[in-house]
Amino acid sequence: MLLPVIMSGGAGSRLWPVSRETLTKPFIELPDGRTLLQKTLQRTACLDGVSEVLTVTNKEYYFLTRDVYEATDTNVSHSYLLETIGRNTAPAIAVAALHAAAKHGEDVVLLVMPADHLIGNQKVFSKAVTVATDMAVNGWIVTFGVEPSTPETGYGYIEGGESIGDSGARRVVRFVEKPDLETAEKYIALGRFTWNAGIFCFTAKTIIAALAEYVPEVLEIAKKTLASSDSKTEPVVLGEEHFASSPDISIDYAVMERASKVAVVAADFDWSDIGSWSAMAELVQSDERGNRVNGEALLVDANNCYIQSDSRLVAGIGIDNLLVVDTPDALLVAHHSRAQDVKTVVKQLKLES
Ligand code: GDD
Ligand code: MG
Repeated sequence: MLLPVIMSGGAGSRLWPVSRETLTKPFIELPDGRTLLQKTLQRTACLDGVSEVLTVTNKEYYFLTRDVYEATDTNVSHSYLLETIGRNTAPAIAVAALHAAAKHGEDVVLLVMPADHLIGNQKVFSKAVTVATDMAVNGWIVTFGVEPSTPETGYGYIEGGESIGDSGARRVVRFVEKPDLETAEKYIALGRFTWNAGIFCFTAKTIIAALAEYVPEVLEIAKKTLASSDSKTEPVVLGEEHFASSPDISIDYAVMERASKVAVVAADFDWSDIGSWSAMAELVQSDERGNRVNGEALLVDANNCYIQSDSRLVAGIGIDNLLVVDTPDALLVAHHSRAQDVKTVVKQLKLES
């Protein structure tokens, strides 16, 4: 059995002012009117062997998530693990794996999907998942490697080694989460590295054993959390009593950097994590001067600008390379090259509040 596990409990800060603590990246509407969460559900629900989708998210997002799922035409049933406090992806995956093992047996194959990515070519994606599922059944922890284009420091880097059989997958020599710029540049120059797409495939048994070996505290607390929560009635709300004391650590640092039987499958599908307004801009058709508009704008002598406005007309004169995102209570104006720095604004705002 293949059980997709949609992870959507993280907080995003690079798409401020649209993305907030109350409306994070998986829930914001893309220019085509759909959300990343809806697209994630659609792409996983139609995979072979999938009849149920497990979503691990914050309790605050439950009704929003249910609305999105109800508006999406699929044949899968839904189950939920709701966190009252987020402790990052390793604890979230730990509870998901234990819960899934108790419900479906420890050989259930989990496909962990971040809810904040955009993937094109469904056929190619399905094919990669089939390869990954076969390997997961044989005890591998499987990652998906994206051909890198820039020395991005917000991603994990995977060094691929020898081929495993004729599956097209490779053994992972090294997994390095979020290297510094110098290291990322070195990896790109070496050419053997791919970006970690953030999607993982393994059996519940394999990941539970890995968590026990590398982060036993995370696993123990996950067990206690499930034991003290009512896991028979849906949705399962995870009590804070134990979970709040779990180490705050991502699965990348907790397991991927340390485990030995890790494989990488080529992610030949189009992939973007829409990590900034520059990436969002790419989703909108540009005019002959490179301007992209989502909403209403009037531009005179403007080049390479991205304008997004929900409710007001934005007029721009003689502007180049600007990102302008207008919302009812906040306006972002930034240079394209500083798109990643939007998160500093969010940090600053948090310090001030
Ligand atoms: N339920 C739950 N609880 N979900 C969480 C939590 C949590 O505490 N924290 C994060 N998530 C969800 C996010 O909503 C997102 O969908 C996914 O888990 C990944 O978390 P991010 O916080 O977005 O991770 P990242 O982008 O910094 O890094 C990961 O993704 C990169 C690709 O985008 C890593 O796996 C990198 O190695 C990878 O390159
Ligand atoms: Mg992310």
